[in-house]
Amino acid sequence: MAQRTSGVTAEELKDQLNIVDVINRVVPLKRAGSNYKGICPFHNEKTPSFIVSEQKQIFTCFGCGARGDVIEFTKKYYNLDFVEACEKLGRENGIEVEFRKGTENKKRDRYLSLNRTAARYFCKTFFEAKNPGYTYMRNRGMDDATLTRFGVGYADPEWDSLTKYMKSKGASDEELIELGLSSRARDGRLYDKFRNRVMFPIINTSGSVIGFGGRKIDEKDEPKYLNSPENPVFLKKNNLYGLNTAKQEVGDGKPAVIVEGYMDVMGLYRYGVKNAVASLGTALTENQARLIRRYTREVVLCYDADNAGINAALRGIDVLGAQDLKVRVFHVEDGKDPDEFVKIHGRDAFLELARKAPPATQYKLENAAKGMDLDTEEGKLEYLRRAAAILKALSPVERDIYVKSLSEKLKVSERAINEEVEITKDPAPPRPGNSVYAEDDEATELTSSDAYIIKALLTDPSLTEKLFEEPGVITSGLGKRIEDNLFRTYGLRGTYEEKDAYQGLDPEERQKASEALDQVALNGKEEEVFLENLTRYRLKKLRRKQGIIINNIDIAENSEVDQSTMEGLTMELIEVENMIKELEERDNGRK
Ligand code: UTP
Ligand code: MN
Repeated sequence: MAQRTSGVTAEELKDQLNIVDVINRVVPLKRAGSNYKGICPFHNEKTPSFIVSEQKQIFTCFGCGARGDVIEFTKKYYNLDFVEACEKLGRENGIEVEFRKGTENKKRDRYLSLNRTAARYFCKTFFEAKNPGYTYMRNRGMDDATLTRFGVGYADPEWDSLTKYMKSKGASDEELIELGLSSRARDGRLYDKFRNRVMFPIINTSGSVIGFGGRKIDEKDEPKYLNSPENPVFLKKNNLYGLNTAKQEVGDGKPAVIVEGYMDVMGLYRYGVKNAVASLGTALTENQARLIRRYTREVVLCYDADNAGINAALRGIDVLGAQDLKVRVFHVEDGKDPDEFVKIHGRDAFLELARKAPPATQYKLENAAKGMDLDTEEGKLEYLRRAAAILKALSPVERDIYVKSLSEKLKVSERAINEEVEITKDPAPPRPGNSVYAEDDEATELTSSDAYIIKALLTDPSLTEKLFEEPGVITSGLGKRIEDNLFRTYGLRGTYEEKDAYQGLDPEERQKASEALDQVALNGKEEEVFLENLTRYRLKKLRRKQGIIINNIDIAENSEVDQSTMEGLTMELIEVENMIKELEERDNGRK
């Protein structure tokens, strides 16, 4: 008999498990027709609408729409990625799972190892002999323990010292370029991307070096921070700087403190606050929120006290809240950022502020009151309207608490406030996780549809409002960052120009985006083109919804669900199909 030395694949693992047994260990299930039923673990409910089909080996929730197979359940329930979920299932069921390394994985391993080689090289230069990088960091108050802990390094000013070193270690030109360690000069030779910079390796929670941030030392250099471009091992939106270090304390009952910058994380660590992470200068993403949730349910946002920091906090609250994280927010007022603050006032003062930081809702309410004169009737009314929109999103219990305190503060009856909340339109669903297209995490280029939409927006910024209602139309990572920029600028000024689109992008990304946009010609038809893209997107979204409802009806028919659920599903299907018909007509009419 041939001996089987390796484990099973993920597909084989699924065949060996019964989803009903796996789920029943954590969610009590009862038989319902040919299926099983229980209280959904993914949203709050009292009557069960969570169905597990033994026959199809899937779960589906009529309440919140969660659905998938046994691996998906494990991923969602324990907040794991695919590989981790398979490993957990294997471990608990005595099955050895093996992930065959495809070419993709081999490439990944190779890239990570090249990054590590580069990090070691930078580190050696930093600690071995006197150099401007080390001097700079010491002058900013860092000690050797912190610098070592974060693997800080120095890229010398030479034209190609790292490139030469990496090539001597077997790296190819293509690899160095894709990793963003080298660039090609006009004469065809490679030169170092990072020169005369302090190097901060970005390390993921498994301890791999996935990229670098390099801070300028010479005031006149640009940009202030040069970051690795997105590449197969570095996806900014999936990582948090410092989490590899912070995860110990964060996993140990402390909240995660989210700050803006590399130096904030290190500065806080230096003074004994070891649970801080940074979102790498971008708006917080759904994936980052999920990553945090593996370690804690509590987050304290501490962004810079400027307008950008306040806006980033307001958006961050929603992204984190959508992952069920409890969020509190504060800004340091003395010193422009946490790094400066902790240097001046020390650890205890920072922790005291963090401890007293108001919950997200209170922060939002306080922020909405800014610049309003609550002594005048108009001011009060306007504030009440804004407050109602904030309260609308809360659970009834939470809402009650804030209605009480608002009523006292404004001297307006609770009933009046509740009525205002009632008539407020439901808030738009949170942006992340709403995309219907397979989201292309790795996309560092604009899709052609993204380019058309962005070009149309730049030609006529008033179209922005239409996009607020349809989160997810823009799908590429690069496109989303541009969209964020446009939304933010539009929010502040009610309009924008092309240059606003490029804020915070790396030079390469900027180049790529502007080339893609240059290729788009709208010939005065920006609104038409925009609406056409929007219609296609809506159609795609509706068709997917249609598929899910049909499947749900199929499952419901075998689950003894009550009559009203069945009717609800049927109504929903009819509604969706009508909408599809209408959009299809509109789309054809336009052609
Ligand atoms: P800050 O400008 O607040 O930097 O940008 P900082 O971390 O406080 O750095 P110091 O104290 O001035 O040295 C916050 C974060 O935004 C990203 C970086 O991640 C930075 O830490 N950023 C900023 C960039 O990626 N590129 C830039 O050019 C600037
Ligand atoms: Mn700073």
